[in-house]
Amino acid sequence: MNNIFTLIDKLKAERTLPKEEYIRLITCTDPDALEYLRQTADTVRKSVYGNTVYIRGLVEFTNYCKNDCLYCGIRRSNTAALRFRLTEEQILDCAEEGYRLGFRTIVLQGGEDPHFTDARLIPIVQTLRNRFPDCAITLSVGERSRKSYEALFAAGANRFLLRHETANACHYAKLHPEELTLANRMRCLRDLRDIGYQVGCGFMVGSPWQTAEHIAEDLLFLGEFKPHMVGIGPFIPHRDTPFRDMAAGTAEDTIKLLSTIRLILPNVLLPATTALGTISPNGRERGILAGANVIMPNLSPSDAREKYMLYNNKLSSGDEAAENLAHLKQSMAAIGYEIVTDRGDYKE
Ligand code: 5AD
Repeated sequence: MNNIFTLIDKLKAERTLPKEEYIRLITCTDPDALEYLRQTADTVRKSVYGNTVYIRGLVEFTNYCKNDCLYCGIRRSNTAALRFRLTEEQILDCAEEGYRLGFRTIVLQGGEDPHFTDARLIPIVQTLRNRFPDCAITLSVGERSRKSYEALFAAGANRFLLRHETANACHYAKLHPEELTLANRMRCLRDLRDIGYQVGCGFMVGSPWQTAEHIAEDLLFLGEFKPHMVGIGPFIPHRDTPFRDMAAGTAEDTIKLLSTIRLILPNVLLPATTALGTISPNGRERGILAGANVIMPNLSPSDAREKYMLYNNKLSSGDEAAENLAHLKQSMAAIGYEIVTDRGDYKE
């Protein structure tokens, strides 16, 4: 009989577990075992990335979205959402400010806004590329055609974030309207990787109807796909969505999964996300202590931040705000980690 400690050692050595063993780990609540998991993940993280924490300057540039994901506060059916779109000049100003603060990765994140055709988005990426040659440009703009991904890559984008949301097609169908399919999401992720992007996928923890088995499938998918980045955070209900009365995911489950993912993918770029910081006051620090090595503070103008409400009470001030980087540095130093000015590329 394998005990949980042995399972954790096995995961560290083999970087994968059979589905049934993932389920045992995911459902484990023994505090000693969970602390061992955390420490093991932290050791692995330090063997690859030391105690450095990479930062990404997040520019939320549009909250218009043609999609209607049932969990998301900026879904098209939410008529209560106040919509905004930054101009190219505003986007460049955000990037300029980010560069001045020490960010060397700019993340352009938005809803799937039909306004941002290739003809409009490509010149923005090109301008950023020319103006900030030493920065990585990350896009998080949803599902597009392979041709579009290729053109954006040619324009100078290096990385792409597109969460798979759940690796189980039935579960996917319960979270999304019919026109969105797991098959197309996976097609996008494969295209992005073929083209040469550093690719990030990920999922919500505790999303409605998610089971331990679904999470085990997510972990198996991560082990096979081997993304460069993985974004996970607790599901948090939004009052103007069909999931308003659903239970939120927990910080504890998210942290446990951050550690597990670090053991599956020792070199992965793993953010302690805003959702984790929102659900728990010291969530971000706990994430970093459990194997995460990236933080993505917000560079958007403050009125835009208030409107980019994917879920209720989404943090955009305090350590979430790029302008408070000095404080974030202190928070990280206090737990023994160091924020660095670096592109923070994936280490092969
Ligand atoms: N709670 C937590 N995360 C959410 N996202 C969208 N809505 C919510 C919510 N209510 C996440 C999705 C999406 C990313 C941009 O934000 O995983 O991919």
